Amino acid sequence: HLSSLSADAVELGTYRHYMQKEIFEQPQALGNTLEMIAGGNTISPQVFGAHAGEILGATRRVLIIACGTSFHAGLVARYWLESIAGIPCVVEIASEYRYRESVPDADTLVVVISQSGETADTLAALKHAKSLGMGKTLAICNVPESAIVRETALRFITRAGPEIGVASTKAFTTQLAALAMLTLSLAKLNGRLSDEDEARYLTALRHLPVAVGKVLELEPQIEQWAQRFASKQHALFLGRGRHWPIAMEGALKLKEISYIHAESYAAGELKHGPLALVDKDMPVIAVAPADELLEKLKSNLQEVRARGGELYVFADAGSAIEESEGVHILHMPEHYGMLSPVLHVIPLQLLSYHAALVKGTDVDKPRNLAKSVTVE
Ligand code: G6P
Repeated sequence: HLSSLSADAVELGTYRHYMQKEIFEQPQALGNTLEMIAGGNTISPQVFGAHAGEILGATRRVLIIACGTSFHAGLVARYWLESIAGIPCVVEIASEYRYRESVPDADTLVVVISQSGETADTLAALKHAKSLGMGKTLAICNVPESAIVRETALRFITRAGPEIGVASTKAFTTQLAALAMLTLSLAKLNGRLSDEDEARYLTALRHLPVAVGKVLELEPQIEQWAQRFASKQHALFLGRGRHWPIAMEGALKLKEISYIHAESYAAGELKHGPLALVDKDMPVIAVAPADELLEKLKSNLQEVRARGGELYVFADAGSAIEESEGVHILHMPEHYGMLSPVLHVIPLQLLSYHAALVKGTDVDKPRNLAKSVTVE
């Protein structure tokens, strides 16, 4: 099938790089992934497999295991699962979980997230969980016949299509779509989702391809920002709540392909260390949608400004933040509520892509990194 084709066999078309192509394929990738819920006003657990109703209905806790960008998708899902489905969730890096002495719990749903389905640590962590008696397992994966998918009781195959650029983009947003569907399924089985709320979330999910398309139109402004970034040695990414993992993902993208040292912090942690690093040479990127934490974030941003740090703020239609000296604002066209992380990662992908172009690095095959890490 397609994902086993060599890189050369997947046409670049008019794009310069696979990463660029894959960023711009996201509306399509999301549309294909969301086909599982086409039509209808209700989400069926069956999208996760024939026996999913039984397993998901008995789920009291969720343990998510993954690496890299897939780990960040898991971190976003934790906010959704706890707030919408009311289910306690822990997210672990696979290489830590597999060697840690943890306390197994048979009612825990183990969710492994992997684009390739072949990541050695994720596969080993899954086998480890099973060996501890945790048999309720779900894979969220982009490759149907992969090793990880063969090991789980339930599965959801994202339909991102082959992802060739080493830095993951469309796999991430389709993983988020799958995790949103999982959250809604569990919320429903848990009696936490009214019919109206379900219909509202489903409408928002189905509108994602259009919403992502509009965000992609912001590329020219992001390209300008990238010109200034490319000369920097370091960058700090801040976010709060469900956008903290998006800040983490933005920092990872910048490191991976443009080799700029980037760190991410939950904005509330700023005063516990990273503020000491802030000066005029340290750009600070803030993920700042108009959510319930925006006012808190704004006061963190003032602390940055007071130390001469230059701010690049990814706001949305609802965030009342004004441009001023040293404060650059990009307004995303819509405010997207719970699903906003899916939109807010897009400009960060574009920022790192364009910073890498300015620096002339090998965007699709960054030094020292592999697309699929099949050895430990
Ligand atoms: C590598 C890739 C990343 C990816 C990670 C996990 O580090 O470069 O883009 O997020 O592996 O891969 P997986 O296939 O398990 O999602």
